[in-house]
Amino acid sequence: MKTQLLLIAVISLSVNALTATTSCDCTELVQSADCKGGCTWSSADSSCSAKTVDCTAQTTQPTCDAYKGCAWNETTSKCAAFTACADYTVAIARACYAKDDTCVPGTAGADGKFPCKTGTITCSTFTNADDCNGMSPDDNSVCWFKSNACSQVDASKCSVIKDQDICEMACKWTSSCAAYTCADMTTADSCVAVMTDDGSGVNICTWDSTGSKCSDAADVSALTSSNCFDKTVGYYYWDGSACSECSGSSSNGYILAFIGFIAMIMF
Ligand SMILES: *[C@@H]1O[C@H](CO)[C@@H](O)[C@H](O)[C@H]1NC(C)=O
Repeated sequence: MKTQLLLIAVISLSVNALTATTSCDCTELVQSADCKGGCTWSSADSSCSAKTVDCTAQTTQPTCDAYKGCAWNETTSKCAAFTACADYTVAIARACYAKDDTCVPGTAGADGKFPCKTGTITCSTFTNADDCNGMSPDDNSVCWFKSNACSQVDASKCSVIKDQDICEMACKWTSSCAAYTCADMTTADSCVAVMTDDGSGVNICTWDSTGSKCSDAADVSALTSSNCFDKTVGYYYWDGSACSECSGSSSNGYILAFIGFIAMIMF
């Protein structure tokens, strides 16, 4: 009986959580205030669309390679739209990875330079933490350096991560790894939304200023034209009269994107 009650409590808890799985596509956004980040507003026809990157306007290698679709040509020292892995030759092997997700370094030529080629990342080829940490062989795993070796680690869900260091980049560690819950957020500023266990969506949170507590939002009815988009981290948008759920592109690989981002800053 007790177990059943507990089960019901757990089920109703998970039903109560307001989970959103698709963030807005730029074209869904109807007010300019929501049209930001990777989106740009056109006042001419009051529409929002995805920002297009002008690769040729990027003048340094890091900014160039950071844009998806752009790649730095070391021969000409110019940024241009990515063509094919094999079109690039680089002085430092790992620069190949920055050209595109599909590129890996080939064997150095007589000039000591590395031709890039199409291939997949193999964690065990990296021999130090700098090169290893944060590299991603596929959508669900990450390379991590421990015990003097670079291993491929399953990072498909917070709950499968066994390593505290990796866990704590995007998830919560308390003897095991789990996704953060709204209740874990202790300030009004951090009480916005938390990632689901597999990173495929978010649970929207709500702040109770009287009790200074963060909990799962039941709905978004209290959100307004000025905070709907931000308080749902872009999973809802103001449609002119209400805060509506986005139907746009789903954001996969959030955990990995996050780990990659952190690893880039750390190493
Ligand atoms: C880089 O520039 C060189 C020299 O102009 C050119 O031969 C090569 O094709 C370029 N590579 C790419 C990927 O555009």
